[in-house]
Amino acid sequence: MIDIAKIYATEGRSPLDALSYREAMSRVGSAVNIVTTDGPGGRAGFAATAVCSVTDNPPTLLVCVNTKSSVYPAISANGALAVNALGSVHERLSRLFGGKTPSDERFSAARWRYGKRGVPILEDAVVSFECVVKHATTIGTHDVLFCEVEGVEIGEIESALLYCSRKYHTVPC
Ligand SMILES: Cc1cc2nc3c(=O)[nH]c(=O)nc-3n(C[C@H](O)[C@H](O)[C@H](O)COP(=O)(O)O)c2cc1C
Repeated sequence: MIDIAKIYATEGRSPLDALSYREAMSRVGSAVNIVTTDGPGGRAGFAATAVCSVTDNPPTLLVCVNTKSSVYPAISANGALAVNALGSVHERLSRLFGGKTPSDERFSAARWRYGKRGVPILEDAVVSFECVVKHATTIGTHDVLFCEVEGVEIGEIESALLYCSRKYHTVPC
């Protein structure tokens, strides 16, 4: 198996600077999610576009989280999380969870229920995935979390919230 973290650790500096990479990535439209957790490390949640499916067997998502963010200690300590895909009605919620708003204020802006592992699940998400973190590896500034999906909840919102060129957009889905 290729050990990506090891390759990154042993190779020299990238020929592309971070700013150019970020500028290029800003043009790639992505679905917006709120990743939430609760447990011994406390409750936390953040807006995330770095989420994608890995495989359906076992059902696995990956989530990238900045190791310097305020939410990181809780995310890494709890070992369980929910990925809540946002809809067109959730732009304000994304701004709250994607900024420096205190955690209690973030959560009081929406309604939540608690999943089997006690993680907050957004009541009106487009779809929510309840997950356990099976594997994590560090690449530079971020941890890549491989999350096995234990349950899904499909909501009724029919338009997704996307983020592209640093602006919000909605698309029917
Ligand atoms: C649209 C959007 C997408 C984001 N995607 C990610 C992501 O995939 N991973 C990540 O670590 N942070 C991401 N962020 C930043 C976090 O949401 C943000 O760092 C965090 O909520 C605030 O930092 P704090 O946790 O240190 O308070 C994103 C922010 C926005 C607005």
